[in-house]
This record gives sequence, C-alpha cells and structure tokens, in this order.
Amino acid sequence: MSPRMLTGAPVAEAVFAELAPRIEALIAQGHRPGLGTILVGGDSASGGYVAMKMARAEELGMTSPHLHLPDDASQADVVAAIRQLNDDPAVDAMLVQHPTPKQIDFEAALLEMDPDKDVDGLHPVNMGRLALGMPGPVPCTPAGIEALLAHHGIAVAGQEVCILGRGTTLGRPLALLLTQKRATANAAVTVVHTGVPDWSAYTRRAAIVVAAVGVPGILRPEHITPGATVVGGGVRYEGRRLLPDVDEACNEVAGAITPRVGGVGPTTVAMLFRNCVQAAERAVGTAR
Ligand SMILES: NC(=O)c1ccc[n+]([C@@H]2O[C@H](COP(=O)([O-])OP(=O)(O)OC[C@H]3O[C@@H](n4cnc5c(N)ncnc54)[C@H](OP(=O)(O)O)[C@@H]3O)[C@@H](O)[C@H]2O)c1
Repeated sequence: MSPRMLTGAPVAEAVFAELAPRIEALIAQGHRPGLGTILVGGDSASGGYVAMKMARAEELGMTSPHLHLPDDASQADVVAAIRQLNDDPAVDAMLVQHPTPKQIDFEAALLEMDPDKDVDGLHPVNMGRLALGMPGPVPCTPAGIEALLAHHGIAVAGQEVCILGRGTTLGRPLALLLTQKRATANAAVTVVHTGVPDWSAYTRRAAIVVAAVGVPGILRPEHITPGATVVGGGVRYEGRRLLPDVDEACNEVAGAITPRVGGVGPTTVAMLFRNCVQAAERAVGTAR
C-alpha cells in the first residue's frame, strides 16, 4: 500500500492564509512588515532563494529591503550591512542568505544581528529562548516540521520520535521543539548521530523518524518500522540536483512520508514569514 504523502504546500497555504489578516492589521496601524535580506556574492542558487523570498514578501503586501554585497565582501562589510538593517525601523526581521563566500564567518556575523530581528531563529539568544520555552523566532525548518505533522493529523504527543542528526539548523532545535509541553509536540525524542554507530536500533523503534543529516539515501527501508511516519529534512545539492536523505524505497515501508520535493521546503518558507510577521507584531506591541 502506498504511504500517505505529507505534502508541504497545503500547510504553507494555511499559514499564509492565517498571516494575511495579521499583515492587513499591521498595515492598518501604519506599520507595513519588512523582511530584510542580505546576499553576499553572485551564487545563482542563493540569489534565486533570495529573489523568491523577496517576491513572496511583495505578494503578501510586505516590503523587502535588500542589500547585495560583492563576492569579495569582507567580514566587516557583512557586519556593517547587518547593523544597517538592525537600525532600520522598516526592517522587522532579516536574514543573511547561507552559504556565504568562504572568507565570511557566518556564525560570527549572526552574532551581530539583533536577536529580535533574526528571522531564521538561529541566533544563540533565540536558541536559548527555544530551550527555555520563551517566545521568540523559532528555527524555520523545525517549526515547519511540527506544523506539517499537525496539519496532516500525525500524532506526535506521547510518541517516540527519532531524529537522525544533531545539526544546529535542524536536528538539535527540532528536538527542543518536539519536547515542549504542547499538544502538537510533547514527544519522547531521541537524537542519534555519528556518535551512535548502531543508530538504526533507535530509528527502527520510533513511530516518527526525521532525517536531518545531509547524506543522500542514508535512511533506508530497513531502518524504519513498517507503518512509521518518515520526514525528510536533510538534503544535499549537486549543482541543481537535490539529493534527499530518505531513500525512495522507504515509500514501500512507511505509513506516511514527505515527498522527495515539496515536503519540508514549503513549510520552511511559510515559517520564515510567520517569524517576520510576529517580529512586526512585537515591534508595534500587538504580538500574540
Ligand atoms: N529543507 C530545508 O529547508 C532545510 C533547512 C535546513 C537544513 N536542511 C538540511 O538538513 C540537513 C541538516 O542540516 P543541519 O545544519 O542541521 O546539520 P549539520 O550541521 O550539517 O549536521 C548534520 C548532522 O548529521 C549527522 N551525520 C552526518 N553523517 C552521519 C552519518 N553517516 N550517520 C549518522 N549521523 C550523521 C552529524 O553527526 P555529528 O554531529 O556526529 O557530526 C550531524 O549531527 C542538511 O542536509 C541541510 O541541508 C534542510
């Protein structure tokens, strides 16, 4: 039997539909939300991602102030750009498109960002807020996975969730998120990685397995229990080709699974805009 497809598009549409009246309310108050973007260099894939986010911001009635720095921009140039957007009241939230050229220390640059404007939720202050269950921008891909599972009616509370990968953009924040005390979380979470050679002993017993590695095809059918829910978050790009962590043969065993394209990606983008609107609401004092 074919598994249920956990598509991201309807989840993203529901998020955007929920954001539309909130954006209207902000504009009615005289505050049009703004998503600032900083692109360093001419990498075409990164340029495409930034253009897509700017276009979506415009579609939503938001502004999208953009700074494009040259390939040879220095760390000081990037820091100056971040500070410029920190000080710009028209920018509620911002991102520096990753990856940056090799002369840029991305993590160090991130520290310069006003944590309240960190749309990706990756600033250490925001990771701390997440760990403590305090309000703040939540990393977009983990937040999107929680929303994806909730939207498709996959029970998470009380279930065993195994996350393969403890990276800072996906595995680690997802573990923090899914252990929070909330109906759409409240899970028994295990995180496995290269320090656990027999990691499949853990993935095999989980009701939900999230692949968050970036090693193409690492999660295979023998690593999951029949009927399990499988979420593919990790990907590697070879040129424009996208190579997911989840081997296609997992479709033969899983009860529900994200499609190879169009699963976690659309929900990640939706959560970025949710973080931006929340930042705007905080700026005008109407945050929920
Ligand atoms: N779809 C999206 O929108 C989206 C967004 C963000 C990230 N991603 C993708 O998600 C993946 C993870 O990103 P990240 O930044 O969180 O992670 P990361 O920092 O690249 O870390 C990868 C993790 O995978 C583990 N790992 C690597 N090889 C392994 C192996 N052979 N066996 C077991 N574990 C292994 C590593 O273990 P150690 O810690 O032991 O080294 C590490 O914890 C990447 O592919 C990234 O592109 C996708």
